Formats: sequence, C-alpha cells, structure tokens
Amino acid sequence: MGRIERAVSIADLRTLARRRLPRSIFEFIDGGAGDERTLRDNVDDLARLRLMPRVGVDVGTRRTAVELVGATAALPLVLAPTGLAGLYWPGGETAAARAAEQAGIPFCLSTNSVASIEEVAAAVPGGDRWFQLYFLKDPVLMSGMLRRAKDSGYRVLCMTLDLAVHGRRERDLRNAFTVPLRPRLRTVAEVLARPAWLAGFLRTGVRFGNFADVAPSSGFSSIAQHVAKLCDASATWRTIEAVAREWDGPFVIKGVLSPQDALRAVELGAEAVIVSNHGGRQLDHVPSAAAALPAVVQAVAGRAQVILDGGVRRGVDLVKARALGADACMIGRPFLWGLAAAGEAGVARTIEVLREELDIALALLGVPSVDAVNADCLYREAPAA
Ligand SMILES: Cc1cc2nc3c(=O)[nH]c(=O)nc-3n(C[C@H](O)[C@H](O)[C@H](O)COP(=O)(O)O)c2cc1C
Repeated sequence: MGRIERAVSIADLRTLARRRLPRSIFEFIDGGAGDERTLRDNVDDLARLRLMPRVGVDVGTRRTAVELVGATAALPLVLAPTGLAGLYWPGGETAAARAAEQAGIPFCLSTNSVASIEEVAAAVPGGDRWFQLYFLKDPVLMSGMLRRAKDSGYRVLCMTLDLAVHGRRERDLRNAFTVPLRPRLRTVAEVLARPAWLAGFLRTGVRFGNFADVAPSSGFSSIAQHVAKLCDASATWRTIEAVAREWDGPFVIKGVLSPQDALRAVELGAEAVIVSNHGGRQLDHVPSAAAALPAVVQAVAGRAQVILDGGVRRGVDLVKARALGADACMIGRPFLWGLAAAGEAGVARTIEVLREELDIALALLGVPSVDAVNADCLYREAPAA
C-alpha cells in the first residue's frame, strides 16, 4: 500500500500536507480571516448535526450520482476554485482536474490559478470543467478571460461575489506571505526544511497563469496587493447581469449567504447558488455555510440548485448538506491537502475517502441513494416534555 492510501481520513491528508509544505504556504491554505470564527463554525456546525438512521431497508445497491447544473456528477461534490494550486504541487491545477475527471465530478478553475485556462483545458480535455471569475477592473482583460474559458470548453461560469477586497488573514500577515515567497531568513529556513516541495517548485516556479501579460512573475506581491490591483470592488448586480449575458451559458453564483441575494441570483438565471463565506477567508463573524443554507434553500424554492461550500470534512457532511436542502457540496482545503501531499494521487485519495464515507453512510442510514436523502435523515431532539 502506498503512503497516500494509508491516509484514511481528510485529517490524515492534512497531516501529510503539513509535512510537505513550507509553513507559510500550509498556513495560507489552512487559515482564515480575523479570529477564524467563521472558519471554525463552517466545520463545527456541520459536525454538530446528528443523523437518524432507519433499518430494515434494502441498501444492497447504492447510488451516489446526482444531476448538477445540467450534467451528471458521480458524487454530490465539486472541487472548489482555489488560487495558486500550482504552488502546492507542480502542475497542481492539472493534477486536481485530472483526479476530478477520473472520479466523474466537476473541477472549477480559479481566476488566480498558476496553470492557465488553456493549459488545464489541453491537459484535461474531457472533464467537466468550470471556470471561476473574479470581477476585474480591466473590462478588456475580463472579457478576454470569458472568451478564453469559452473557447477552451469550460462548461459553467462560476462568479465569485464575496471578494470585493481581500479578507484580512492574520496568519498571512504574520508570515508576510507573498508570491513568490520573499526570501527572508525565516522563509529560507522553512523552505530548506521541505526539500521535496522545493525540488518541485524550482522545476516549475509560480505565476498567475491567467495574467501572464499583466502581472509579470518577477517581484513579490501579497495576494491582497494582487487583488487590489486587479479586482473591481465597484461591481454590482448590473455587472453580474452583463457578464452573464456575455458568457451566454450556464452560470453559478458563489459567495452568497443572504436569502435576498440568492433571490437576485435566481432572477438573473443562475443555475445554482453557492452558499459560501469563502471558507472563512473573507469576512469573519458571518454565519457558517451550514447555518446560512436552510434560509437560502427556502428562498430559492427549487428555482435553482443550491450548493453548500465550506467545512465539509467527512462523507457524512455530504449527507447532512443534502438533508438541509443542498444539491451538492464544494470542497476547497480537503482537496488541496490531498494535492499538497501527493499531487493527482492525493486529490484522488481525498475524493475516494469522501466517496467511501458517503457510501457507507448511505448504507447505514438506510437510504440507498443520495437523491433520497431528505430532512428525515437528521436527528431532531424531542422537545422537552
Ligand atoms: C488556498 C485557497 C485559495 C482559494 N482561492 C479561491 C479563488 O481563487 N476563488 C474562489 O472563488 N474561492 C477561492 N477559495 C475559496 C474556496 O473556493 C472555497 O470557498 C473554500 O475553500 C471552501 O471552504 P473549505 O476549504 O472549508 O472547503 C480559496 C480557498 C483556499 C483554501
């Protein structure tokens, strides 16, 4: 058995990622904004929910596939857009997209990827690829990105709305995290302590692949500087509407917590609303994705799909999200930990762990298909007499 197969949980994969990555990069993935309250709540609010199994049900065959944004996904799962995946493993975006394709689930490429839109498309032509867009100050650059994504066969546009400015992430501030890493005494020491990561990094380097002409790879910038330079904090629903029209295809809206905003997204024709606080990385002290989900589900009322994003660490979390009314979940950190631990095999392991946990949960809950999961699967304590 390979080292990666010995990782039996998402937490094990995180441990392996921590061992392979320089500390400030591990913390960039792991961390959140402010006190990291929302980050913790994302995980804890899902973990706190209890399930109510039924017995005496035929669970001899189980079905985990769902219809998601007009295509079949083998699991109710999407790999979330995450910037700089190529910093955690050489060719990180391509490795993750391949693992997603193999598992039959969608992969969403970030605006801030290391590999470009075209590179990922060329390496993984067959997969269900989504492209995530941040609103950019430069309309020509933004239109160019939309066209490049369309021409490269990305099926779904994912507009992320919760990054008007960059969240204040204290771990990154303390670590003075920049791209590339600025060679300070401490970063040199942490990088030298991670020779396997360093060898890969020296081979491939790192850059913002979709901004090759705009942000030259020389020089050091914090992600906050990169965002301030390029992203448009003045974008409104009018911008979203215009981009949707320009895209002229299926689109989803990511970063919604308020039911009113979910309704706006539905009115504009979004195929799905992604209930998300950016993994607790933007505004701290907002509700967890799980806490915000039920009101959004109620407001959307079946007119669009709903995806929960944030805090999924177990296969049972996929069941819990379905029981709260979500159609599927996105994962960010869990697949990045797998990626940082072992590249494509690590992401495959992340997905496999969640798939196996989900399958066992369905069997033991007495629910033979993900489609049949509903609110009855949750345990509600009887009110005190
Ligand atoms: C390292 C890292 C980079 C991210 N970059 C992006 C990004 O470029 N675009 C985006 O929409 N969300 C980004 N996110 C947020 C994820 O898409 C997702 O919302 C979040 O990771 C979900 O929480 P989870 O990590 O608990 O699964 C990033 C998250 C992480 C951890």
